[in-house]
Amino acid sequence: MHNCVRIADDLFYLGGNDRRIALFESAYPVPRGVSYNSYLLTDEKTVLFDTVDLSVSDLFFENLAYALGGRALDYIVVHHMEPDHSAAFARVLEKYPSATVVTNQKVAQMLKNYFGFAGEVRLVKEGDTLSVGKRTLSFVFAPMVHWPEVMFTYIPEDGTLFSADAFGTFGALPGSVFADEVDFERDYLDDARRYYFNIVGKYGVQVQNVLKKAAGLEIKLVCPLHGPVWRKNFGWYLQKYLTWSAYEPEEKCAAVFYASVYGHTQNAAEIVASTIAQAGAKAKCYDVSVTHVSELIAEAFRCSHVVFASTTYNNGVFVNMENFLNDLKAHNFQNRKYALVENGSWAPQAGSLMDGFLSAGKNMEKIGEKVTVLSAVSEGSAQSLRALGKLIAEDMQK
Ligand code: FEO
Repeated sequence: MHNCVRIADDLFYLGGNDRRIALFESAYPVPRGVSYNSYLLTDEKTVLFDTVDLSVSDLFFENLAYALGGRALDYIVVHHMEPDHSAAFARVLEKYPSATVVTNQKVAQMLKNYFGFAGEVRLVKEGDTLSVGKRTLSFVFAPMVHWPEVMFTYIPEDGTLFSADAFGTFGALPGSVFADEVDFERDYLDDARRYYFNIVGKYGVQVQNVLKKAAGLEIKLVCPLHGPVWRKNFGWYLQKYLTWSAYEPEEKCAAVFYASVYGHTQNAAEIVASTIAQAGAKAKCYDVSVTHVSELIAEAFRCSHVVFASTTYNNGVFVNMENFLNDLKAHNFQNRKYALVENGSWAPQAGSLMDGFLSAGKNMEKIGEKVTVLSAVSEGSAQSLRALGKLIAEDMQK
């Protein structure tokens, strides 16, 4: 049965929630589920903005038919071709064959690649407009947020922005579709940060470019492809995006990441964290073999300081730490202060190997010398760990 929501004059939310999905993009755990958003504008012309993932497509088609109320579908605007938004595209055209596809050249090529679609497309370029009655659709290109074909649509008459993946988040919608009707900071912010850094975090420069374009628009309603719709206090969330995309830390805090096999490296990491805390600064430990790497990524980007403690394993860095470091590199990790702790029973070298990963990043600054633990923490290495913790705390308090 249809369950769509009128979110503004002539504008319907048609999406749905998947709370059974285990891994978003086959990579990211989503214990709070995810929503796939689609919207229908019913002006003199009717306009569908994107479709949904197959998991919620039955509901989507019921919503679309209900919101159309017997009218024809005139346009389908495709902002982004990732299948969590385009999977139902071919079926939309089967049901509404007279609809005109409105999109850009890159999307048109992907429609061909994904669906063998070779039908007519109304191609748009940056800044092009399309009148649909009382309103005008204005197209804003947003390459690499999150794929190269991505574009937004802005409706100047209403101040509505359809922002594709930007401003989206993991987490199903609870009933309301509006950010101001949930406790976003408590219930969604961690997921929004994890979504941002893991999905589009690599492309900070491109996100900054599109935020500059958005700064020139009067925005009253933001309709992303995942998560709640923003109609109040959007400036608060926009500020998060400005911070995240500039690779600036969100908070002065130390994330202490450790890879430990028998507990000695954990002990070393906790001595550093405890020293930082006793000096009055914030620190939090993470076992990289327990916490999912997507959470580690989000936390590394949130904090101003990061500590990496790893045992030496197979003459290298412990496997889960190495995976995390590779993922950080892939997401353009930069602009942080870092410290190193290594362990090894006969040939410790995890520290210099980790240093190789981290020092290659832009604007990365090492604090103190790496501390080496030989098998178990000794009086001597404990002293070095405490000195390192003190140095980090002092730096955070500058
Ligand atoms: Fe939600 Fe890039 O797709």
